[in-house]
Amino acid sequence: MTSVTCNLLTRDRSRTESIQEHIDCVVEDLLASLRRADRLSSSERRGIIARYTAVLEGNFIYWMTGAYLSVSSDLARSIILDNLREEVRDCHPGMLRRFATAAHAVPKDTDALAVSRSLSNVRLFIGRLSPVPIVVMMAFFEGFIQRFMAYLADLAQRQGSMEQEYTDVHGVCDVAHTQELFRALEAEISLAHDSREPEETLFEGVEFLRTLICDIVAEPEFGTCQ
Ligand SMILES: [Fe+2]
Repeated sequence: MTSVTCNLLTRDRSRTESIQEHIDCVVEDLLASLRRADRLSSSERRGIIARYTAVLEGNFIYWMTGAYLSVSSDLARSIILDNLREEVRDCHPGMLRRFATAAHAVPKDTDALAVSRSLSNVRLFIGRLSPVPIVVMMAFFEGFIQRFMAYLADLAQRQGSMEQEYTDVHGVCDVAHTQELFRALEAEISLAHDSREPEETLFEGVEFLRTLICDIVAEPEFGTCQ
């Protein structure tokens, strides 16, 4: 291995690490902003589960498909394809629907409306098919939901639900998914090392998704999150 290749790899690795640090920080911030489950009314708990379901049930596979269409490296393609295969094979949207139904939190039109603007922003961002920012966004999302699952499961239990398959599966498998997406990110950054994304566009998807998650967990009457 030449020293030039070694330097590039070192640079790309530290770039990935600094992205991971930023993502971890955004995740911690979001988790710290969650309202305490024991202080929420039944209606507030239902709202969070319903808005989460309204967003995730029909969009996660779409977002991940956008990531697949945007990347160029064989490694990133294969990692994202594995993730998609698992989603479809194990019917994760069906798992989420059972989770929401058991918690009496099937989304209503008002739940979909509460997240429509921020969801639309994420969809439009995905449509740009910018490989590195999309993989950064998906790595952020996988990192967030593995930590969010305990909270979501707690909300559902407080709604009288015993159905925990969705939260059990995603609290565990998304740890591996997050690590794999960072490997995919490293591969995409290596390919794009001559055209490095400026910071503002690198984290643009993370910011759109952070706002969407904020709208899921916030009380809609208090307006949307900034
Ligand atoms: Fe899933």
